[in-house]
Amino acid sequence: MEDKVKIKRMKEAADILSPILREISDASVEGVNLLELEDLAIQLCRQYKVKPAFKGYEGYPAALCLGVNDVVNHGIPYDYELKNGDILGIDMGVKYQSVYSDCAVTVTIGEVSDEVKKFLETTKQAVLNGIKQAKPGNTVGDIGYAMQTTVEKEGYSVVKEMVGHGVGYELHEEPYIPGYGRKGDGEKLYKGQTIAIEAIINQGRPEIKISRKDGWTASTKDGMLSALFEHTVVVDDNPRILTKW
Ligand code: MF3
Ligand code: CO
Repeated sequence: MEDKVKIKRMKEAADILSPILREISDASVEGVNLLELEDLAIQLCRQYKVKPAFKGYEGYPAALCLGVNDVVNHGIPYDYELKNGDILGIDMGVKYQSVYSDCAVTVTIGEVSDEVKKFLETTKQAVLNGIKQAKPGNTVGDIGYAMQTTVEKEGYSVVKEMVGHGVGYELHEEPYIPGYGRKGDGEKLYKGQTIAIEAIINQGRPEIKISRKDGWTASTKDGMLSALFEHTVVVDDNPRILTKW
């Protein structure tokens, strides 16, 4: 059922999250420490009077998931100074008036090669192509199929273990929204459904490994780059993107 109040609040939540994420992206330059970005996120949440949604979620210890280069996602901010040529995935969620919004971008630090630029552009395009399928009557598989074909065409691969999800009164709700799939497979989408569509893409092989040290940080097995982009979206004939990059 369409929940107008929820959607209105989620738009407000997204309108807070988007500028926060923008500020963190802008602050992500050579020489900046990941711990400073985490501090900034906490400070901005205080300023905007929202709760960082990830902190404390299943024991996750931070407001941000930060992924440098081969880190896929769920990277806990640690003592690392960004350097020229790095790419940085920034994933953040907020809770505002009992609803959640979730969004992610990958930014470049200083100069990166055309190859890296193309990789990031393709990952971004994958999410946007997925979002185009977020229409009533389409299925979760239609979204995944659109994302998968977008990236595989360029020789990249979709991470299987991490997926998009419903979002609303909880950070993670049903259904799962994989970045891969087959047309017509999986659950049907309905008008007004609120979902987080995520493209989590590896430049090389799709396999990931989870840090044995912290139990969270996921990185590519082959050491190649990984990128992610995510939006909070309302299913509609004209799919509505609530968050902004
Ligand atoms: N946006 C990611 C996701 O929805 C990050 C969640 S991090 C966690 O899976 F700490 F909250 F798990
Ligand atoms: Co998410």
